[in-house]
Amino acid sequence: MRQVTVTEHLLLHQKKTPMATGRFTSLLNELILSAKLISREVTKAGLVDVLGFTGETNVQGEKVRKLDEFANNVLIHRLRRSGVLCAMASEENGDLIQVSGDLPQGDYILIFDPLDGSSNIDVNVSIGTIFSIYRRPLHKASGSPSLDEVLQRCDKQVAAGYFIYGSSTMMVYTTGNGVHGFTLDPSVGEFLLSHPDMKIPEQGRIYSVNESYWNYWDQATKDAIAYFKSTENALGKPYSSRYIGSLVADFHRNLLYGGIFMYPAKRKPDGTYAGKLRLTCEAAPMAFIVEQAGGMATDGVNRILDYTPTELHQRVPFFVGSPNDVRTVREIMLRSTSDAVSGD
Ligand code: AHG
Ligand code: MN
Ligand code: MN
Repeated sequence: MRQVTVTEHLLLHQKKTPMATGRFTSLLNELILSAKLISREVTKAGLVDVLGFTGETNVQGEKVRKLDEFANNVLIHRLRRSGVLCAMASEENGDLIQVSGDLPQGDYILIFDPLDGSSNIDVNVSIGTIFSIYRRPLHKASGSPSLDEVLQRCDKQVAAGYFIYGSSTMMVYTTGNGVHGFTLDPSVGEFLLSHPDMKIPEQGRIYSVNESYWNYWDQATKDAIAYFKSTENALGKPYSSRYIGSLVADFHRNLLYGGIFMYPAKRKPDGTYAGKLRLTCEAAPMAFIVEQAGGMATDGVNRILDYTPTELHQRVPFFVGSPNDVRTVREIMLRSTSDAVSGD
């Protein structure tokens, strides 16, 4: 069988698109090299001193693990020097990471979650890296970009993808021409095409949610999740429940098998409701990928790709997966909310 690398695939299938430029290819190659370095470190995690916490707390108020820090440093270090970016943003950094001074600049903007699934890092469960790429608006292309140049409507992404460090290391990505999966062949050190043109099943059989938060959900959310456990749903029997706790891993499984991943808004101590997942580095890239694979992504009701972030670390409720299941959640939520308003 002919072995196709990511670069070859990009050139073979996208000759006529602007994404096949040398600059975009270098950006992907830098991401790939960073992921290989992260993958290597993840693989030998028990042998070297990379387990546990650094003692720091990140901008999200979460304890930073050593592998979070390692992955973040690798990505920042490599991508800064790539010459194709004008700014970066990471889940781990409060502010934009500027690419300026003596470093060459390009017009791409990269937003990433360096290591997703932190709670699983030390216990040999799949984790990942998520990335989202935008282009700098043309009319503003000089000097360091401002935050509003980075906070573009989510449907302006030009590429998005993830690396999953699991039983094998894979890269799954889209540039708006379908979703393609590549598996790292460790013997040659290359990601080779293994999953061309991935499509999510229209109807899922799996629901993924951290159900321990039941008491923090509003009635519409409870109604939506009860649907998947009921015997009166599209399957006529309860869906299977699978929750890894790494968005990348839960998403990847559902992409292949069909299903829905949910991280609904939770009630906070002050009585307001909020999601946990980050719009720019988690929900938006996964939304782009899933739509390209024939799926859907919403905040329960509204399409994620229609959002324009108002801040870098904005959080959203997130429902993503097979179109039938995400659509059903939307219908239940709309119905449940209108019943509550009309007092039924
Ligand atoms: P991160 O490790 O990048 O902070 O992301 C963790 C996220 C996501 O990967 C996962 O789906 C979710 O948090 C799990 O949260 P709960 O432990 O609250 O279920
Ligand atoms: Mn994450
Ligand atoms: Mn993370």
